[in-house]
Amino acid sequence: MTQSKEPVGVIGVGWVGLVTAACFAELGHPVVARDILPEKVAALSRGELTIHEPGLAELVQRNAERLRFTTEMDELLGAARLLFVCVDTPPTRSGDADLSRVRAVVDELGSEGGHVLIMKSTVPAGTGETIRRDLPGLAYVSCPEFLKEGTAVEDFMHPDRVVIGADAGDEEAGDAVAALYEPLGGQLVRTDVASAEMIKLASNAFLATKISFVNEIANVCEEVGADVAEVARGMGLDRRIGPSFLRAGIGYGGSCFPKDVSALKMLAGNTGYHFQLLNAVIEVNELQKRRVVQKLLAHLGSLVGKRVALLGLAFKPDTDDMREASSLVLAARLQGEGAEVVAYDPVAAEAARGLLDGVELSDSALGALAGTDAAVLVTEWDEFAELNWTEAASRMARPLLIDGRNFLDSDKLVSAGFEYEGIGRAAGVGYEQTPS
Ligand SMILES: NC(=O)c1ccc[n+]([C@@H]2O[C@H](COP(=O)([O-])OP(=O)(O)OC[C@H]3O[C@@H](n4cnc5c(N)ncnc54)[C@H](O)[C@@H]3O)[C@@H](O)[C@H]2O)c1
Repeated sequence: MTQSKEPVGVIGVGWVGLVTAACFAELGHPVVARDILPEKVAALSRGELTIHEPGLAELVQRNAERLRFTTEMDELLGAARLLFVCVDTPPTRSGDADLSRVRAVVDELGSEGGHVLIMKSTVPAGTGETIRRDLPGLAYVSCPEFLKEGTAVEDFMHPDRVVIGADAGDEEAGDAVAALYEPLGGQLVRTDVASAEMIKLASNAFLATKISFVNEIANVCEEVGADVAEVARGMGLDRRIGPSFLRAGIGYGGSCFPKDVSALKMLAGNTGYHFQLLNAVIEVNELQKRRVVQKLLAHLGSLVGKRVALLGLAFKPDTDDMREASSLVLAARLQGEGAEVVAYDPVAAEAARGLLDGVELSDSALGALAGTDAAVLVTEWDEFAELNWTEAASRMARPLLIDGRNFLDSDKLVSAGFEYEGIGRAAGVGYEQTPS
């Protein structure tokens, strides 16, 4: 007879919560997942996914018997001792992390005895200490999540490392969380709560720094006639540097980097420490989104009355997440210059509706390109690499493409009749892709 596995509770069923729930169910745990949105819970209970994430639908379907979705906190508390908190922690107007959803969960839990609160949401260092004080009846473990949208299931099932922060008195709770992750085989980092919280913030801030760094290198490459793809390839072979996150482009976006970098900057600022480097990282990223507009101006003179197509809207491929997507800033800047903007995204169009005032949404790439004076590749969807670019050129009023992700084969585009410009590369230079 197989021994039944420890039940798992999940609070907040978004990207992190749904992946966590589905993956623990896949590992054989009965999972109860709670969200406050009745329509989301109803859809998930019918087996309908609320987000686009490769492999997740299959996982939810395969483990339907072990997965239960509910709006009721009591149902969760009755079913599981280990409770993963996966609610959103968006930025406030001041740039600090908004902990109101986390606080709402804490208030609901009250001093329920015997449970273990496992914080997966990204929170500022010091949050765990406050919650522990407020909920003396619960054990507290910090277990930050490092999955990436687009490869979330793969990342969860094959983690580089699993960070488990537990303070004195909560060691047993830390062991219980470690046991859950044991079958996944990632390097285990057992530490205290504040250090676990900092590992998450510091990791995202470092990756954002790497992106802003290579974007500045790209901008210098343009001035001196170097190719940033070549530079990144040469740099990345140094094991101290590594090849990841060295692809120049139009800047980072998404639901994590912008808010986590800002939250860390503000966290430092609130203690009186001025985190200068992060100010620069943020500023470089903001300016980088706008460089594309300067490139278009250089080619077209004025953008007044010009029709510009955006290829891709999501902040990265294989997701429909539009939070802090570079396309939002770019579209608004192009409109500010007097351009008409038309856009196409293979999956994010629905999520983008309502966020892009006055932008025409097309249902195909070729449809979006028809009659345009220029196009900007914003998201590196595979579909764009495979597009019939000769046909695209013939449909455009002027076949000019700014490749905001250095994604396309520039030789192919030039032979198709395009004026092609990437980021930090001489126009028309052949390009070997570097991993990102
Ligand atoms: N998305 C990512 O790639 C990612 C990666 C690592 C870490 N994180 C962190 O994980 C956390 C969650 O991120 P996300 O992208 O999954 O957010 P999300 O917005 O996709 O999902 C959050 C969910 O929590 C629900 N919720 C809010 N209050 C609740 C409550 N009181 N009880 C139950 N449910 C509640 C919301 O309705 C929503 O469904 C954030 O702190 C984020 O920074 C996200």
